[in-house]
Amino acid sequence: MEEQLNTVFASYKGEKNELIPVLQDVQEEIGYLPEEAMREVARFVRVPESKVFGVATFYARFHLQPRGNHIIRLCCGTACHVRGASKIADRIKTELDVEVNGTTEDMKFTYEEVACIGACGLAPVMTIDKTTFGKLDPDKMKKILATFGEDAEGGEA
Ligand code: FES
Repeated sequence: MEEQLNTVFASYKGEKNELIPVLQDVQEEIGYLPEEAMREVARFVRVPESKVFGVATFYARFHLQPRGNHIIRLCCGTACHVRGASKIADRIKTELDVEVNGTTEDMKFTYEEVACIGACGLAPVMTIDKTTFGKLDPDKMKKILATFGEDAEGGEA
């Protein structure tokens, strides 16, 4: 982790106003923000640890726990809800044995539920990483998940 932190810190001066971008880069590098990394960031940008922890917990974009290789976001907005998002949610939870904001034991997937993502015409919709999948039903969703599972097993996804 030290090496990863040094890589990030090398692009910054170590000033207070760099806190958020430094945290973002550390998260990108490590995948989440471990406590130890936040302490190092506090030292680097010279702010109290409590301030770093405060910022990291305030913004939804920061994650304090390890996350899966693939992030599933199921839209639970009105249009998606009306078109059966809850059935898809139930199936995802059963298939992957996860709860909302949970990560599968094998670290392949993290499951999140989100508000409207602006693709209501394709409802119900989910995204996996940066790809959007629309007009879902539970079986279609299962097939999509299977393709990501194979990718992950094959090494680089
Ligand atoms: S409600 Fe799901 S994309 Fe808009």
